[in-house]
Amino acid sequence: MTVLVRSGVGPLCAVARAAIPSIWRGKYFSSGNEPAENNPVTPMLRHLMYKIKSTGPITVAEYMKEVLTNPAKGYYVYRDMLGEQGDFITSPEISQIFGELLGIWFISEWMATGKSTAFQLVELGPGRGTLVGDILRVFTQLGSVLKNCDISVHLVEVSQKLSEIQALTLTEEKVPLERNAGSPVYMKGVTKSGIPISWYRHLHDVPKGYSFYLAHEFFDVLPVHKFQKTPQGWREVFIDIDPQVSDKLRFVLAPSATPAEAFIQHDETRDHVEVCPDAGVIIEELSQRIALTGGAALVADYGHDGTKTDTFRGFCGHKLHDVLIAPGTADLTADVDFSYLRRMAQGKVASLGPIKQHTFLKNMGIDVRLKVLLDKSFQLGHFPLQSAQEIKIKETHFIHCRLSLLV
Ligand SMILES: C[S@@+](CC[C@H](N)C(=O)[O-])C[C@H]1O[C@@H](n2cnc3c(N)ncnc32)[C@H](O)[C@@H]1O
Repeated sequence: MTVLVRSGVGPLCAVARAAIPSIWRGKYFSSGNEPAENNPVTPMLRHLMYKIKSTGPITVAEYMKEVLTNPAKGYYVYRDMLGEQGDFITSPEISQIFGELLGIWFISEWMATGKSTAFQLVELGPGRGTLVGDILRVFTQLGSVLKNCDISVHLVEVSQKLSEIQALTLTEEKVPLERNAGSPVYMKGVTKSGIPISWYRHLHDVPKGYSFYLAHEFFDVLPVHKFQKTPQGWREVFIDIDPQVSDKLRFVLAPSATPAEAFIQHDETRDHVEVCPDAGVIIEELSQRIALTGGAALVADYGHDGTKTDTFRGFCGHKLHDVLIAPGTADLTADVDFSYLRRMAQGKVASLGPIKQHTFLKNMGIDVRLKVLLDKSFQLGHFPLQSAQEIKIKETHFIHCRLSLLV
């Protein structure tokens, strides 16, 4: 397969909508029967209802894209959803060890590939900047190894709010930031340790050059198309207004085949599949860049190897959340299909994994690092309950994560 193109909703005009017979309900997570009082009419719901009324039902991919990254009302654009007070928590927010081990992995790749005189560290979707901060601390600690190497940091981030938090975490604004909202490089500065750092909205704006790319819990928020096998063949799942309940959305199946069906493999045996063309486009770009200018990419996410079916779900306040209720107030996510990412990288770069994150971190020496940190904490009299709880959360989290390496 080559570059994949997002499909439109042309065939489903207002007339066709009235004739759609099939209502589809996700078996596991997607949408149930929430009581009406739990269904506030959010600005995003109003926006989506206008959209559906004027152009017909929308694909799940379009729904995810609008809800998460609409520049005016998107969930990711203006809020900090990470951490205990937010909707979900990620490994770097739980423990510094995660980023430290990734930092060591990047340095060992740099050494193994001939110690280039310069490299870019590029992170897609950096959240609060905690992960890249932990990696940069390792780079500083191993300064004697990296001393003749010019390093720069490049962050791909659509969220205005999170980019401000990243800037504060990573630069402490010791040197004033340059801001230019209209430019592809919308912010520039210097990190606490003196490394140039820049922000972009799209990967294609990041300069080409020898780079290490990192995507942690980034691919799972990219929009997926969903398809259901029916006696008439594959049918795409769309989102429509529920005619029975005011201000409520529902899933429906397209009455006939849609162009996006081309994304499904001919030998597909599952009865429900999720495809993320945006992920394919990004992996193709990463692979081309690595093939052209050298480097490596590391993708860590919740995922599967082409086996899971309905994984589309929402999170609000650390709890599962009906994806069609109060859109814009909860995170939406779908597990990453690593077999698809591998196919998109094929023939351009070597692709390793996925392996469980647990195995990767064990191989990288997490136990030794943890012991050192705990010993230090005991010596300082800091250990305790809080650390013990953190370690417990971390283990469950890692076991559910999988990791893919594209080298
Ligand atoms: C689930 S958070 C993960 C944050 C961080 N990597 C971590 O592990 O803590 C997803 C991140 O991707 C960003 N993001 C979401 N969609 C994006 C897009 N289309 N392009 C760039 N960044 C995006 C979000 O703003 C956020 O920083």
